[in-house]
Amino acid sequence: MATTTAARKTKTRPVTRDHSRSRIAESNIPATMQAAAIDRFGGPEVLTLHTLPTPMPDPGEVLIAVDTAGVGVWDAEMRDGSLASSRKKFPLVLGTDGSGVIAAIGSGVRRFKLDDRVYSYAFENRKGGFYAEYVAVSAKMTAHIPKTLDLEHAGAIPTTGLTALQGIDDALHLKKGETIIIHGSTGGVGSLAVQFAKLREARVLATASGQDGMDFARRLGADMVMDGRHGDIVAAAREFAPDGVDAVLGLAGGEALERCLDTLRPGGRLAYPNGIDPEPKKRPKMHVIPYDAVPGVHEFDRLGRAVEAAKLQVPIAAAYPLVDAAKAHERLAAGLVLGKIVLRTLQT
Ligand SMILES: NC(=O)c1ccc[n+]([C@@H]2O[C@H](COP(=O)([O-])OP(=O)(O)OC[C@H]3O[C@@H](n4cnc5c(N)ncnc54)[C@H](OP(=O)(O)O)[C@@H]3O)[C@@H](O)[C@H]2O)c1
Repeated sequence: MATTTAARKTKTRPVTRDHSRSRIAESNIPATMQAAAIDRFGGPEVLTLHTLPTPMPDPGEVLIAVDTAGVGVWDAEMRDGSLASSRKKFPLVLGTDGSGVIAAIGSGVRRFKLDDRVYSYAFENRKGGFYAEYVAVSAKMTAHIPKTLDLEHAGAIPTTGLTALQGIDDALHLKKGETIIIHGSTGGVGSLAVQFAKLREARVLATASGQDGMDFARRLGADMVMDGRHGDIVAAAREFAPDGVDAVLGLAGGEALERCLDTLRPGGRLAYPNGIDPEPKKRPKMHVIPYDAVPGVHEFDRLGRAVEAAKLQVPIAAAYPLVDAAKAHERLAAGLVLGKIVLRTLQT
């Protein structure tokens, strides 16, 4: 259940009653909020609980009382400063996505009303990220949660769901009966991409790490699974698709991905979200499609429909309270995460 403004004990901000500017929840929004933020780049230990001013929505924005925030590998790169575009304005609240309820609405926004249950994706949001009790984001990057998910599971998928669906549909244009290797199937994106590929009635060979990972990928619907760290990818793919696979979705860079590409048929497609490291090498007769996840009204509509049609399972590997955001980052760094790690504001 979402943390409501009424439940908060902090000092409240004198809220504007100018309804031409924004519609505000009846219960006052606190002047300050708890957020997991950094004051400098560094290891997980630099991520600590801060008391910060609650952001307010400008025209075209909504204020979300956050229930769940996703924890992604890109958050760790923002935290340690290795992400090229990392902003250097501190304190920096991390978190690119999450879910919650609408607590205030900026002028010009008609799609939402107070207390609507929403999820949102806003990369490097200028008013701070989702590791917070409140986030002010563009309404265009926000949508009502799919009917089949609760707030916790919806909060785990804005970034990974958009990335998985757009990889399968927009980058690869995967069709019924085609064969695909989803490399890195146990991660945040991969665990959803397997299900979206099955929704499109493709045949899926999933690479995973270890027996637990293979069992996990099989449960998500993969037709064949293999250990991508220790198994013979080329031999497995030959058995799976003797004439070569039609497509590869690369969610982890390196030697194992190169072995996946050895098994593509001539004219086959490789798609990968920008950020995998190292980037795969280009080869003759291979269509290479690097891409970024795109949020938007239309994109969230499509995601919502696909989530409901697939009866999407959203595996949550671990949920931490905001105060333990550093522990969540340590867990992420340890690897072998089956699905997604999330932060929950209620547990602060
Ligand atoms: N540009 C964009 O818009 C965008 C959006 C989302 C994601 N991304 C990028 O996409 C990538 C995937 O994101 P994610 O959230 O899914 O990351 P993730 O949760 O870390 O998933 C990557 C998965 O790959 C697995 N893996 C690594 N090497 C493997 C191997 N040899 N065989 C089998 N599995 C292997 C990892 O397993 P282990 O746990 O065993 O290591 C992990 O489960 C990241 O690089 C991210 O930065 C980009």
